[in-house]
Amino acid sequence: MDLFRKKSVDQLVAESTPLKRTMHTFDLTMLGIGAIIGTGIFVLTGKGALTAGPALMVSFLLAAVCCGFAGLCYAEFASMAPVSGSAYSYAYLAFGELIAFVIGWDLILEYALQAATVSAGWSGYFNKLLEGFGLHLPVELTAAYGTNPNTTTYFNLPGFVIVLLITWVLSIGINQTKKANDIMVLIKLAIIVLFIVCVIWYVNPSNWKPFAPYGIYQFQPGSTQPYGIVPAASIVFFSFIGFDAVSSSAEETVNPNRTLPRGILYSLVISTILYIVMTLIMTGVVPYEQFAQFIDAPVAGVILKTGMNWLAVIVNLGALIGMTTVMLVQLYGQSRICYAMSRDGLFPKFFGHVHEKYRTPFKGTWFFGLLTAFAGGFININVLFELVNIGTLSAFIIVSAGILWMRKTQPNAPRGFRAPGVPVTPILAIVFCFVLIAGLNWETWVRFAIWFGLGLIVYFGYSRKRSKLGLEQKPGLTPRSLRLRTEDCRLTDSRWLLS
Ligand code: ALA
Repeated sequence: MDLFRKKSVDQLVAESTPLKRTMHTFDLTMLGIGAIIGTGIFVLTGKGALTAGPALMVSFLLAAVCCGFAGLCYAEFASMAPVSGSAYSYAYLAFGELIAFVIGWDLILEYALQAATVSAGWSGYFNKLLEGFGLHLPVELTAAYGTNPNTTTYFNLPGFVIVLLITWVLSIGINQTKKANDIMVLIKLAIIVLFIVCVIWYVNPSNWKPFAPYGIYQFQPGSTQPYGIVPAASIVFFSFIGFDAVSSSAEETVNPNRTLPRGILYSLVISTILYIVMTLIMTGVVPYEQFAQFIDAPVAGVILKTGMNWLAVIVNLGALIGMTTVMLVQLYGQSRICYAMSRDGLFPKFFGHVHEKYRTPFKGTWFFGLLTAFAGGFININVLFELVNIGTLSAFIIVSAGILWMRKTQPNAPRGFRAPGVPVTPILAIVFCFVLIAGLNWETWVRFAIWFGLGLIVYFGYSRKRSKLGLEQKPGLTPRSLRLRTEDCRLTDSRWLLS
């Protein structure tokens, strides 16, 4: 039984669908920013400020440094194997099937639950926007049960509806055009710059004192939740997730060896600068304890404190657009990862089935769309985002370890980009990821362990026997029957339709 059967770069490239290469560094950077800036800055900064105080900007920096080191490792992998599938494909290359499965299973947390988290954030801003026009949904339908300690809520209706709408759009193949994505991202950036320019004048530096009221890491009496700079970094880490989506576009990128690493790093640097400036302004305008009053929509809350209600409406709209692009990229990524796993025989054919007319993995898209919609509808955002963070941090650890392993075992394999400072860079990425995992609640570790255990049951109970790679190694299987398995689920669509 070979649990660590691997794919080669040639194999990965041969399996990839021939797509038109139209993406340049600018498009990739826009794609990255489109996937990165969303609920993290628009919603989780409230919880972050309550957890770290004004030192939240240091937490953002800590999370950014962690992502920067991991981003360099992603970039090296993307330049070695410019194929879609992101961390799942990289793990197949470095460590073989079992770890690839584990990471693919893990990416379900990263993508599907991430979209569910963002839908909860989307709902908060949607409700604020309605309030601006004097309209109100029944409060019970504005968030999942247990989201706000002072309000009884049962179901996040706006989030549920937006996820179903996006799922419908993706399932019938109306994928984003490059132009539509670029426009939405530019609107999002313009709104953030507008916020900075208009609100900076209201900063009162005395609000930055004390700067780090909870220090680096501490527990408050009677609470299981840790406080301080590290736990807040573990929260706002969510704000940076998404840059790896850039590496999924490898097959559609012009000169991927150079453009992919640039796209990843540029989008990370731009987002980090914007986050730090925004956080300084937010904690400078409103004393950090007051963020409890507008935990659902802290950026809107800060603006309302300044009295610029007109700006609040504009920023609410921008936040809604921004979070919509994030969900689009995530739900797209989710269906494609499962499509790839189904193509490899690790998931049922259901997920690889391509719709005759729309040429999309229709059933898989709806399966995960519904799962995401219900998760966002019923599960508290605080539970959701922590699971996403631990899942993504684990993926980062495996990818970084993969770079260490590939440099050792395949030092001369062609690489368009070599992460600087190996082995220190991936080792630091791994250390930072563990630090951020330590800042999460222990309940999250338990939930993640259960998810991980379930994944192993699926792998050993189902996937291992049906793995295409495993079947290929079995004597007696004809090349024709193998080819049929692959062609069965060949997909022909491209996310980035020419516009
Ligand atoms: N980074 C993405 C967001 O903040 C997931 O919404």
